[in-house]
Amino acid sequence: MLTLRFLVLFIHIVAVIVALGGSLFSTFALAPVLAAELDAPARLRVFRRIVRRLGVIVLTSLAVLAVTGILNVLFLGGVSILLAIKLILVIVVIGLALYQYGTIGVQIWRAPGPGPEVAELQARFRRVGLTVGSLVLLIVYLSIGLTRGSGAIVASIR
Ligand code: HEM
Repeated sequence: MLTLRFLVLFIHIVAVIVALGGSLFSTFALAPVLAAELDAPARLRVFRRIVRRLGVIVLTSLAVLAVTGILNVLFLGGVSILLAIKLILVIVVIGLALYQYGTIGVQIWRAPGPGPEVAELQARFRRVGLTVGSLVLLIVYLSIGLTRGSGAIVASIR
């Protein structure tokens, strides 16, 4: 049980938990409480700091997922159709996460103050975040089938 393959898979799954858990907490627990408890300027200040911190956490987790994922593929020894579909979805997720934190997050950070423009950016940030979260759940579902399901390995890389 204490093999390198096991350790890499463990880190892979911890990265999923960190990326998904942080996003779910901020979307469904923190954001509604901030909206109810803080006035607009304070809400924007807190939102900006969360975007920055969460951005580092989520993007780092995705990088860890990519590195440990490549090691997983090497340990597994082949690429199945299921894994190929998963990889396409992972590329979409990474692109969306970069857009969410890199583009929208930076625009929110640079906005002069609260207003309809920032509110629209925040709504877009949440929409993209929910899409990323849903896709990650789909990827987790596909991943369970990688070693357990009938996702046959069709193209060996060894
Ligand atoms: C958003 C990104 C990702 C998520 C959410 C994710 C999720 C998961 C999960 C939950 C498992 C465990 C499945 C199980 O054991 O039942 C897994 C395994 C695996 N992942 Fe990922 N993964 C991601 C990215 C990647 C990437 C980028 C690669 C390849 C480059 C990859 C390759 C693999 C492989 C080959 C396994 C099977 C490992 C084994 O059972 O030994 N994953 N993934």
